[in-house]
Amino acid sequence: MKYNFDQVFDRKDTSSYKYGRCKLYFGTDDLLPLWVADMDFASPDFVIDAMKKRLDHPVLGYTLTDEAFYASILSWMQNRHQWAVEKEWIRHLPGVVPGLVFSMLSLTRPGDKIVVQPPIYPPFIYTVKQNDRELLFNELVETNGTYEMNLEELEQLAKDGAKMLLLCSPHNPGGMVWSAETLKRVAEIAETYGMIVVSDEIHADLVLEGKHIPYATVSEAAKNHSVTLMAPSKTFNIAGMSMSVALIPNVKIRQKFNRLVDHLQAASGHVLGFEALKAAYTHGADWLDQMLEYLQGNIQYVVDFITQNTPEIKPMRPQASFLIWLDCKGLEMSDKELKDFFVEQAKLGLNMGPSFGPGGEGFMRINVGTPRSVLEEAMKRLQLAHASLVRKTV
Ligand SMILES: Cc1ncc(COP(=O)(O)O)c(C=O)c1O
Repeated sequence: MKYNFDQVFDRKDTSSYKYGRCKLYFGTDDLLPLWVADMDFASPDFVIDAMKKRLDHPVLGYTLTDEAFYASILSWMQNRHQWAVEKEWIRHLPGVVPGLVFSMLSLTRPGDKIVVQPPIYPPFIYTVKQNDRELLFNELVETNGTYEMNLEELEQLAKDGAKMLLLCSPHNPGGMVWSAETLKRVAEIAETYGMIVVSDEIHADLVLEGKHIPYATVSEAAKNHSVTLMAPSKTFNIAGMSMSVALIPNVKIRQKFNRLVDHLQAASGHVLGFEALKAAYTHGADWLDQMLEYLQGNIQYVVDFITQNTPEIKPMRPQASFLIWLDCKGLEMSDKELKDFFVEQAKLGLNMGPSFGPGGEGFMRINVGTPRSVLEEAMKRLQLAHASLVRKTV
C-alpha cells in the first residue's frame, strides 16, 4: 500500500498543543506552527483500526499489558534494532519524560549530580532542576556542521562524582546518531566511575543516515548500568496516546525503578494506548519506511532552500528525525531579535535555541514532519522576511 503524506489536516480544533499553545509561547496565533515535536501526518490506518476494533467492545475498564504487548515490543526491537530484549526488562510508562524523572527519583538522591549534554531537548534540563538534583552540563562541541561529545569533560564530571548521565540518542535538537565508538567510550566512563546512564531513544526508529545502536547493546557494562526509554509515539505520530516503555536489563536497577513507579501509582495504562502500541510495532515497518523516505525529501527540500535563499542561516542536516537545527548566527541578531524576525516578520513558530540550554544561543529548531506544501509555504514566508531584511540593510 502507498501512503499519502501530502494530505493536509486542519488540527486547530483538536486541542493540539502545537496550535493551542502558540499564543502563550509566541504571543500570537497568527503564524505557521513548526515547533512542538509531533508530526502533521495522519497516524497510520492500522493503528487507528486497532483502536476502533477495541471500541467494538463497550467496556473500557482497567487494562493489563497482555502477552501481545510484550511480544510486539520484543519483535520490533529485534527486527528494527537487532536488540534481543527480554520480557522482564519491560516496564510500561505514560511517557519518556516521566521515564527520565522516574529514573532520577529511583536511582539518585536529592543533591546528586546529573549530567546532560546541551544543546538538548529542554525537559532534560528543567526536570533535573525541578527534582532538586544538581545539573551539570557537558556541552556538545560543534565540528564540521555537526555535534560531537566532549568525552574528556564527561570523564572529568564522572570522576568528580556525577551519579547519572541523561543521554539523548539520537540527539534532539541536532539529530545526531551516536557512533558505536562514542557510545562505547561513554559506557567505559560510566562503568569506571559508577555512573548510571539513562538513554532516551525515542527518536531511534527515525534514523535516516547510519544506524541506531541501542546504548545497552554496546557492552555488557552498558547493559548493566542503563535504563533505556523507547516509544512508538514519535515514530508513528501517536504522542497523544501516552504510551512508552523503559527497558532495564539489570535486576537491581529495575527493582528500584519499578518500586518507584508503583509507589507513585503511575503504573496504569490507557486501554487504547496499548492497542496503538501493539498495532504500530506489529504492522508498522512498511508505513515507517515510506514515511522516512518522505521525511528525507522534506529535509533535502528545506536544507537546499535555506542554503540557496537565506545563506546566513546554516541548517544542521539531521541524521535522524524530523527536526532541523538552524544556526542563525549569520543573521547577527540577538535571540530576542531572532524571535521577532521569525514570529513577526516570517510568521513562523519555531523553537528558540536558548530553551535548549548552553550552545543554543543563535539557533532555531524547525519541525519538518509536515506535508511538503506546508513547508513550501513556510519557506516562502522565510524568503519574504529575509528579503525585507536585506532591503533594510542596503
Ligand atoms: C528526546 C525526547 N525525549 C522525550 C520526548 C517526549 O517524550 P514523551 O512525550 O513520551 O514524554 C521528546 C519529544 O520531543 C524528545 O524529543
